[in-house]
Amino acid sequence: MDKKQAIKKLAEKYDSFYFYDQQMILERIDRLQKNFKGIEFLYSIKCNPHSGVLETVFGKGFGADAASLREVEMAAEHGLPKDLIYYSAPAKAAGDIEAALGKAVLIADSLSELERIRKIAQSGRNDLPIKVGIRINPDFSYETNEGHANKFGVDEGAALDYMSKMKDDAFICITGIHAHIRSQELDAKKLRSYYDKMFALALRCEEALGRKLEYINLGSGIGIPFDEKDSEVDVEWLGAETEKLLGDFRKTHAGTRIFIESGRYAPGPSGIYVTKVMDKKVSYGKTYILLKNTLNGFMRPSAAKMMSKYLTSEPAFSWEPLFTGLHSFRFEALEPNSEKEIVTLAGSLCTGTDVIAEDIEMPRLEIGDLVIITNAGAYAASFSPMQFSSQEAPGQVLMRTDGSFAE
Ligand SMILES: Cc1ncc(COP(=O)(O)O)c(C=O)c1O
Repeated sequence: MDKKQAIKKLAEKYDSFYFYDQQMILERIDRLQKNFKGIEFLYSIKCNPHSGVLETVFGKGFGADAASLREVEMAAEHGLPKDLIYYSAPAKAAGDIEAALGKAVLIADSLSELERIRKIAQSGRNDLPIKVGIRINPDFSYETNEGHANKFGVDEGAALDYMSKMKDDAFICITGIHAHIRSQELDAKKLRSYYDKMFALALRCEEALGRKLEYINLGSGIGIPFDEKDSEVDVEWLGAETEKLLGDFRKTHAGTRIFIESGRYAPGPSGIYVTKVMDKKVSYGKTYILLKNTLNGFMRPSAAKMMSKYLTSEPAFSWEPLFTGLHSFRFEALEPNSEKEIVTLAGSLCTGTDVIAEDIEMPRLEIGDLVIITNAGAYAASFSPMQFSSQEAPGQVLMRTDGSFAE
């Protein structure tokens, strides 16, 4: 069955649904793994926790970047061992920390979290010292050598002080570092320079600790094209450059594991959102196409539409993953025809904000027709207010390479 046939078949069951193409996910995973030799990837579950997607990425050897206890459990349910599940999130509850300890490697996000973990360690465990990583808010950014206030992680200076103070602690042992300061970077040169700074940071941490780190988690950053003007990150070049940086580092760090986290890269472009025309009307000469589950089913196109009222140019900083750019999503008819119409695409919620595109040209659409929205594989279903208005949520289906569906 080809993709279009599959979508038509699924539309008999769902008025709105996400469609993930396993073949595309696999190709993109392959591109990362082939180009980044000696690097392990952790999949950021938050961007798309659909079980078919997890089956695909974990099946290719990715570990997990888990942002909650539930995500830790999902990774474990998919068979991942503890040393491939990294639990990194701010403000973890003490109960979640305790519950995750046997299943995941903890990455502490604050000095007080480190102390909470120490208290748990002091309460009579037999797996002491507990190995823990620290998320660092480094003294640099992609562009500068200055740190910035951040709700994430421990400021570099404080993290180094803590490491040197706790290097011989009986209860916790700091074995790894993590930093993530940007998502959706398309410039491979900036990513290279960031990785370079991260390897230097690792050396500063090792000096404070007086021993080698077991792992360095470089975080995420590799972006995907959203706007038609965007190009793919040159992962061939970036992979080769990273290998060169690692070449020197590896001389003294043969056993250190290097992780890159990646959420959007593999599933993002592989997903589309399919929504049915539920009604059509003309008001004061303007034609409205009313679709199933727009703002509530796939929020980001509505957010981009709202931002278009306020921004005349792309912002200088990123509001990921709520808003990437003004032209991040394309709207297409599944069955295009030559008759064109200027229409406004809106949804069924009782709010005027539930509009995803205004006065755009589309092929003529009638009730029952299907509209496709692109770039719906990451931060799409998982980042939409589906409870609003208590409507039925969209379906989510991954089409496997053998044509079967994971629903
Ligand atoms: C700590 C951390 N790691 C990884 C990611 C995944 O980012 P991306 O989907 O851009 O690869 C995020 C995204 O918010 C993050 O906060």
